[in-house]
Order: sequence, then structure tokens, then C-alpha cells
Amino acid sequence: MSRPGFVVWFTGLSGAGKSTLATLLAAELQARGAHVEVLDGDEVRAHLTKGLGFSREDRDTNVRRIGYVARLLARAGAVAITAAISPYRATRDEQRAAAGRFLEVYCRCPIDALAARDPKGLYKKALAGEITGFTGIDDPYEEPERPDVVVDTAERSVDECLAQILRVIEARGFMRAGPTPGAFVRARDRVHLGALGPARPVGEVRLDEGAWAIAEGVEHGVLSPLAGPLGARDATKLRKEGRLESGLAWPLSWQLPLPAGVVCGPGDMLELVGPEEKRMSLRVTEVWTGDRGESLVAGVVLPAGAGLEGLHARRGALLDAAGFLVRGPLDEGHERLFDVALEARGRLVLAIPRDDEALLAAALRVVTTRGLEDSVLVETLPRLPRVPADRDALLQVVVLRNLGVGAAILDAAGPDGPAPRAALSSLRPAELGLEVVAAGPVERGATHGLFTRRMRAR
Ligand code: ADX
Repeated sequence: MSRPGFVVWFTGLSGAGKSTLATLLAAELQARGAHVEVLDGDEVRAHLTKGLGFSREDRDTNVRRIGYVARLLARAGAVAITAAISPYRATRDEQRAAAGRFLEVYCRCPIDALAARDPKGLYKKALAGEITGFTGIDDPYEEPERPDVVVDTAERSVDECLAQILRVIEARGFMRAGPTPGAFVRARDRVHLGALGPARPVGEVRLDEGAWAIAEGVEHGVLSPLAGPLGARDATKLRKEGRLESGLAWPLSWQLPLPAGVVCGPGDMLELVGPEEKRMSLRVTEVWTGDRGESLVAGVVLPAGAGLEGLHARRGALLDAAGFLVRGPLDEGHERLFDVALEARGRLVLAIPRDDEALLAAALRVVTTRGLEDSVLVETLPRLPRVPADRDALLQVVVLRNLGVGAAILDAAGPDGPAPRAALSSLRPAELGLEVVAAGPVERGATHGLFTRRMRAR
């Protein structure tokens, strides 16, 4: 499926909100099924335009290189989002003329507001004369004359600005409105299927129980689009922003240290060895150096079982269903919850850890004694990795999204964990990729379990 790409070109002073909006826009468009890359000034200056300064000539070179890469991406069908000050009008107009489908988004913000905010402390230094040639202070910024969108970031909320940009993208016909559920499943398939191929392992890496649980989730597909241990870029972005490089909000990290004595490089195969000598193959994509100088391996786990095919074959079939991850012994609280789900959606997928036979038997008993065979599907999954309580709701969302259901019933991480809805409150609904129909603590083990909260998404 190919779709014509386009360029979204953010421009504005340092601190005006270009990077923030670029990241959120990326996540939103990704949720709608687009391939998206963000070219951020601060980051690009560490690679593509390393060594350039802030003279007019250097800034123009910076902007032209960013524009060149953005055009290549757009030509290949992706959405390229750029976020550099790009202070000179003529150079921006050059990019517009060369690009074809192009939107210029001006992040407008008064200099006083920027100097007051000043998260990097640069305005303070510029005003004190410690930095010279700083845009907006003693270096020019030429406002766009005919931008496609102007967002007043000092006056409007991030959500309002984002909505403004999305309206223009839709109005131009660059992208249709609304999320495309299942987009994440497609991303997972692509990542995995592209990496198959014959090779002999060059070494072994032992995983502890926690890492093995993540590896099994990745292999099965429920942690898609995570395809293996993280590379440098994903790891950095995740640590700083809780997101993958693509902009997708993400609940867990997987960094794989390379054991002493194993030498490998991109393309090599490693054997991952888990508890009870279970094994899995990893195709190495990157070897990188962590903060403490250690060697880390990024790669792609090769799917061995039928998990992926099962999910793949069912894609779309369950979009009208709600899903729930059953994690504790079933009780009346759960049954009340199933009623909520069935009332809201008519069909329910219960996901159960595949090694918990007692729980599976109990679930099947509930289904048959209540005559719900036509409306409840019981699905088994690898046991999920543990994540910090505040990331647990996002983990549930990721897994349920990958099961292909269109709605989620979320359970609290534990008696002390945050309520799922509160834990997800910093994310936009479209970023979740499914609708949260109910979220709350399920009281376990009580004689009359309670589903204490019942909320609808909107
Ligand atoms: S551009 O002018 O070439 O488009 P770019 O967006 O890549 O700029 O880089 C701007 C970032 O570099 C700012 O956000 C700020 O963190 C940093 N910076 C350092 N020196 C300057 C300067 N003299 N003017 C503007 N930004 C600077």
C-alpha cells in the first residue's frame, strides 16, 4: 500500500514549540497509518549537519540538508516533519518549491514569553551577551509571509495547536481524518517479515527472567512494533520522553548487553537463552555504546511460533470487540467487568497467560456456564513483562492493540498503582490506537468483587 508522502516544515524561534508539536504530530499521523520521520534541528545537528554553526551560511546549509532528506522521505511515501528554526524566508521558500506537497507551520511566540520560559537558559545567556548571533536577540528571524498554518503557542494549548495543524493536513487531502485502528499491527508485520534470512549464530546471550518475558512478548507479536532490544536512538528517546524514536508512547525498555568475548556486528545472528534453556534467535542490527561504556546490541527477534500468523490472520476481525488482560484469579469483580464490556461492545476477548492452565480453565468455565461462547473469545499470550506501575496501563494498551481489538478494558496495576486512566492522561486518545471503554481497579479475592469505576471514553 503506497500513499503519497508530504513535508511538514515547522519554523519559529528557539523554544517556540516546534519539537513538541513535531513529536505529537508524528505520533498522531502514525496512529493513522503513516510512515513518519521527524528531522529535529537539535538532533540533526549531531549527525547530518554536525560541525555547522549559526552563521547565515551555516544555517542555510543546515536547512538545505534537512530539506533534502525530507524530500527523499516524502518521495518514498513517508511524512517528513522538520523542526529547525530555519530563520531565512528565502531558504524556506526554496524548500517549499523543491518539495511538492509541503506545509509550512509557523510556531509564533513573543520573544518575552520565550525569554521568560527559557528551558535551556539560552535566552538568558544571549541577553547577557554570553552568546552572540542568537536568533531573535541579535540575529534575524524572518517571519513567513504566507505560512499554511500559524500556531500561537503562547496563547493556545498544545492540543489546540495540534488540532489546527491536523485540520489543514486533512483539508489539503494529505491525509484522511481519524485514526486507523490496526495500523500498529501492520507496523509489526513489516518489522518482522523484513528480517528473515538464513544465518548461523555467532554467540549466545543469557537473559534473566525479566528480559526473557520481553523477548517472548516481542517474538509473539504482542509488543509490536518493538522488534528486539533497543538501538541507541530508541533508547535515548525512551529515556528522555517515554517514546520510541517514531514518536510512539512506549511502556518498557529492553537493552541487551553484549557478553564479554562475543563479537558481532549488524547482520550477525545471536542466540538468546532464557530460563530452562529456552532459545530464540536474534538478528543483530546495531552494536552501540551505553552510558557506562558497555557494548549493547540492538536487533530483531525472529518469530518462531504461530503467534504472529494467528494475529496476522485475524487482523481487523476483532475491531468491534473489547479486550481484557486477565492477570489474577477470576472472581465476581471480573464477571461484572465482562458484563460492562459485553454491554459496550457485544464481543469480548479475554487474554490469559499461556502457562496459567488453572486460569484458562476457570475462564472457559465462566464462558460456558454463562453461555457466552458466541461473544467471548479466550486467547492465550506469553506472560507479560513487569513494568513500573505508572507504565502498566500503557503496556496493557499496547498488548490489546496488538491483539487487534478496538476497545480496551484496563485493570489497575495493583492496589497502590495509579488508576489506568490517570496513568494515560498525558496521551492523546488517537495515540492509544484504541478506545478505552472502561478502566479501574478490579478488587480481587473479595467475596463480592467490585468493579468500582465505569467510564466511557467520551
Ligand atoms: S537553524 O537556524 O539552523 O534552523 P536549528 O534549529 O538547527 O537552527 O538549531 C537551533 C538550536 O540550536 C536552538 O534551539 C538552540 O538550542 C541552539 N543554538 C545554539 N546557538 C544558537 C544561536 N546562535 N541561535 C539560535 N539557536 C542556537
